[in-house]
Amino acid sequence: MTSNISFTHDTIRAVQWHGDHLRLLDQRLLPAEEKWIECRDEASVFHAIKDLAVRGAPAIGIAAAWGVVLAAKSGQPLDQALAHLRSARPTAVNLMWALDRMKARIAAGADAAALEREAQAIQDEDLAANRHMGELGAALIAPGSAVMTHCNTGSLATSGYGTALGVIRAGVAAGRINQVYAGETRPWQQGARLTMWELVRDGIPAKLIADSAASYLMKAGDVKWVIVGADRIAANGDTANKIGTYQLAIAARHHGVKFMVVAPSSTVDMATVSGDDIEIELRDAAELLSVAGRRTVVDGAEAWNPVFDVTPADLIDAIVTERGVIENPTTERMRAVFAA
Ligand code: MRU
Repeated sequence: MTSNISFTHDTIRAVQWHGDHLRLLDQRLLPAEEKWIECRDEASVFHAIKDLAVRGAPAIGIAAAWGVVLAAKSGQPLDQALAHLRSARPTAVNLMWALDRMKARIAAGADAAALEREAQAIQDEDLAANRHMGELGAALIAPGSAVMTHCNTGSLATSGYGTALGVIRAGVAAGRINQVYAGETRPWQQGARLTMWELVRDGIPAKLIADSAASYLMKAGDVKWVIVGADRIAANGDTANKIGTYQLAIAARHHGVKFMVVAPSSTVDMATVSGDDIEIELRDAAELLSVAGRRTVVDGAEAWNPVFDVTPADLIDAIVTERGVIENPTTERMRAVFAA
């Protein structure tokens, strides 16, 4: 099929393999500093994932695959490397998916060069999936719409182009989207720090809103779609994504705004029956008690910091994957596309 969508508005590649090391754009420092980390062993990839230097479900999986390559090149026991990388973060299934793919190649006798080809394939397939999802998702949006997004699902979070942000890039290029609103995404500010950085850099009309402004924005009526990514989609379509996604889906339904999840098939976990079975990462309370490293809450205060939530399938109008669009997802509709 010939595409009528040009891949403009797409200049960022944050995960780069350089033959003997992995370069990662340090997402903890953006937008103040554009600093690259060089990972030369599996342990440094593990820490980059755990400490959010690289984040976003597909990017975590891709980085982990390169971590396995580095382990193979250094002679590190591969079982140990696979287990260590797997423990870096619990919710994004792309991590487990990529490591299982590398494990299968190892079991088939792959050497370091073959593992390098597999990691590159994982990275290249992700970019192709994002571009295809961009076209499929943009086609659902009426020309001249405003949309809202949450967290960062762009080039920084993937091999490039992005999932939800890929749909937004494609929608802007096709004249379907004329305004993007990005929630700031407390506490880590992925929306404010990362999504706004991508959108401004790529010339996409965007306005930042406080997370708590979302319902008021939807009530105003310009926003036609909330478009988000996913960290794990269960077999019934329940979707784990960045904390705050669930309340956006509730607000969207209340205001008649459509809700779209965009994720590659590597985010779909048909072995997990429903969202109740998805492990939600709890991070350090300190992330909530400070802003930009400066304590803002009284000493002695406690905080609860779950960093993902689950949006039930019945609040989702469309799940867009590179294999096709699943409207009003149910287990049956998911199985029709993702049967084992
Ligand atoms: O904690 P993060 O920044 O890794 O969380 C990222 C998200 O929740 C994204 O929405 C999701 O991974 C999809 S990225 C294409």
